[in-house]
Formats: sequence, structure tokens, C-alpha cells
Amino acid sequence: MHARDFPDDFVWGAATAAYQIEGATAEDGRVPSIWDTFSGTPGKVANGDTGDRATDHYHRVSDDIALMSELALGAYRFSIAWPRIVTSPGVVNEAGLDFYDRLVDALLEAGITPFPTLYHWDLPQWAQTRGGWPARDTTKHFADYAGIAAERLGDRVRHWATLNEPWVVADHGHLTGEHAPGHTDTGEYLAASHHLLLAHGLAVDRIRDAAPGAHVGIVLNFEPKHAASDHPYDVRAAWLEHAKMNAWFLDPLTGRGYPLPAIHDLGWDQEEVLDGDLEVIGATIDFLGINYYTREIVDSVGSPTRLRSDRRTAMDWEVYPEGLFEILTWVTREYDLPALYVTENGAAYDDGTGTPPFDDTERVAFLHDHLTMAARALEGGVPLKGWFVWSLLDNFEWAHGYGKRFGIVRVDYDTFERTPRASARWYADLVRTGRIPPL
Ligand code: FCB
Repeated sequence: MHARDFPDDFVWGAATAAYQIEGATAEDGRVPSIWDTFSGTPGKVANGDTGDRATDHYHRVSDDIALMSELALGAYRFSIAWPRIVTSPGVVNEAGLDFYDRLVDALLEAGITPFPTLYHWDLPQWAQTRGGWPARDTTKHFADYAGIAAERLGDRVRHWATLNEPWVVADHGHLTGEHAPGHTDTGEYLAASHHLLLAHGLAVDRIRDAAPGAHVGIVLNFEPKHAASDHPYDVRAAWLEHAKMNAWFLDPLTGRGYPLPAIHDLGWDQEEVLDGDLEVIGATIDFLGINYYTREIVDSVGSPTRLRSDRRTAMDWEVYPEGLFEILTWVTREYDLPALYVTENGAAYDDGTGTPPFDDTERVAFLHDHLTMAARALEGGVPLKGWFVWSLLDNFEWAHGYGKRFGIVRVDYDTFERTPRASARWYADLVRTGRIPPL
């Protein structure tokens, strides 16, 4: 019997998000979100794909939980769709709450710990019409919604994440425009970014009020920023990118305020930051969720990016497992948080002409290499408590539509049939033994 790579009480799960899997966008009182509007606008999403049916999870919850049990998962990270719960300011939709109520009950019955995220990008359209994240009022609406959800589920749900990847929400939604609501405005980007954090801080309080003993955290995405060369301009550019993405949210969340080099580089006058905001944002979190996919090579003077390896996923993201070790150890050294979870890690690969059992050897290798880095970080004292593979199922990959497949379980979009890939079996083996199976 070999020693385990992960402790007995390590949390093993898979992650999904409401708009990416649920479908049923017009059922049981759900109102439109910004992603319905965005995907319904020609030219915004590949192939004109929308989340209207997605993986039909809304109607297949029991089957999907049975699948999780088959894969021996101990936890499930999903998101709650705000537009199912609050259909206009102050109006709660009981049928929407019922759906998550049943989901949580069924998970618990199957011995699977629920890890809901309150915001995985599906802002109700009514909130966007009132100004969206660049508007301060949205923070109040979000806190109200968080309170409602925690009130209803808090007797059974212990782990709550407020936001998923606020950096992507601010950047892709308000600066590059590649995500909903598709705006390209630096002022909006900065205001959205601050209000997302403020919304988080207000929600932390509301969740703790409604569900005493709750563990509340936030999920951030990180990318090591490596200079393309040792030219001082490249080194400086990489350092700035690091401040603007990796430290941008974590500094204020841990009571340090926004990183100064980033503030200067962005030319931000901090007009939106009112007295007391930074105290609200710095409310202690019980855990940090880390989403890790790749690194970025930063180049300011046209240096050839020799560093990048040829190992890429179907997203054209470099496969760089060492970056996960770098992020886990950096966060631990720099911020001293009580608990970390890898809340997303995984890869899209083309299905090719595969027939069952869908031998996704590249995905197996990807997971193997990243989990090896996680085990190494754990050995070095990083307080890593769990791991969620992205994703349980193939799903609606935002602006890429259904063309990019991240699932350890394949979805046939004609029949909605689910077929576990080789990676799912491999992962189940790891979950059962606590040991990384060899390749
Ligand atoms: C993350 C998102 C998740 C998924 C993966 C591939 O940024 O949180 O919904 O799209 O990327």
C-alpha cells in the first residue's frame, strides 16, 4: 500500500455554473440575465449558441447527481442563478429557490457537500438596466439576494462563495467586451471592479447573519505573469500585470487596499471608493477559491516569447502546471489565509472522432500534472483543503459556445446523453484512493 498524496479529509469535487449547464432559461419564473441578452445578440457567441437549453441540467438533476455518486465525488461546486431567485428589485421567486432547495437536499442525501457560488456571471437583466456593476446600487441588490439565498439554504449549506472571478467580470464584461454586457469602457471597468468587491463584502455579512457558522469565501482567477525576457521593460510590465490581476482583488480583500502600482498604471482616481468601503471589503474570509488554467508571458518591447511551450489546450492556453504551484505558494506566503481550495482546474480538448469511452488522454495528463503540483504545494505547507475539477460536464463555454469541451463527462448535444470520459474514471480512482494514479 503506497502512502496517500492527499489527506483523508481532502475535499474532492467537480464544478459547474448555472448559465453554462442549466438551460430552462424561461421556466419556473426565471427572468432574463445579461447572458441571455448577450448570447441572443448576433455575433457575440460562436455559432450563435445560447444557454437556452445548455446541458438540460435543470431537468436532469437526479441523473447528474447519480453521475457524481458514480464518480465518488464528495463535493459539488455549482452556482445559483440570481435571475431565478430575484425577478425584480425586492421580488423573490419561490419556484427558483425551490430548485436549489431540492438540489441541496438531493446532494446531501447522496453524501455530497454543496459548495454554491452566488454569482457566476448571470446578472439579472433588470440589474443591468439599472446600471449593472458600474452602478453602486447593484452592490445592495446583490447583498439582498445573498441574504435571501442564505436564509433559505443556510441550514444545510455551510460553504458559500460570493463571486466567481470578479476580474473576468470587470475585464471581459466592461473593458474588452468579449463577455456580457459587452462594454468597452475603462471607467466602467474600474467602477465595476470596485463594486464587485463591495458587493462581496456586504454579502459576507448577510450570509453570516442568515447562516451562523457559515464558511464564506470568494473565487478568484490567477495567472503567473512571466516576463518574456529579462529586459527591464518586460520585467516591469510583468510586475504591473501581476499587480493588476493577481493582487488587484486579493490586496483589498485582505485589508491592504488596492495595489498602488496598479492604481497609478490604470490612472484611477478612486472616485467610487467611499469612506468605509475598504473596511467592508476587507471583512475576513474563511477560504479563498483559486481558479487556475495557465500563465501569461508579458512582453512590452516585442521580445520573442521563447518561454511558451507547445503544449496547449483547445483554448490555445499554454499547459503550465508549475504555475499552480507558484500561485498556491505565493498566496500562502503573501496573505496567510486560513484555507484554500482549487475551485477550478481543467482543460478543453477536441473530441475528435472519439467513440465511447472517449479516451481523453491529454486531459488525464493535464489533471495528473496539475494535481502533482497541488500535492507538492500541500507537502510544503500550503493550507489546501480541496479540489474541484472544471468541469463535471461539457457545457456552454461563454463566448466560445459549445465548441469548447471541458467536461470529464461528455455531453451529446442532440440527445443530452452523458458519457464519462477516461478522465472521469481516472479522477474517480484518485478520489477513492487519495493517490494520483500514474499515467
Ligand atoms: C473560468 C470560468 C468558468 C469556465 C472556465 C473555463 O474562467 O469561471 O466558467 O468558463 O473558465
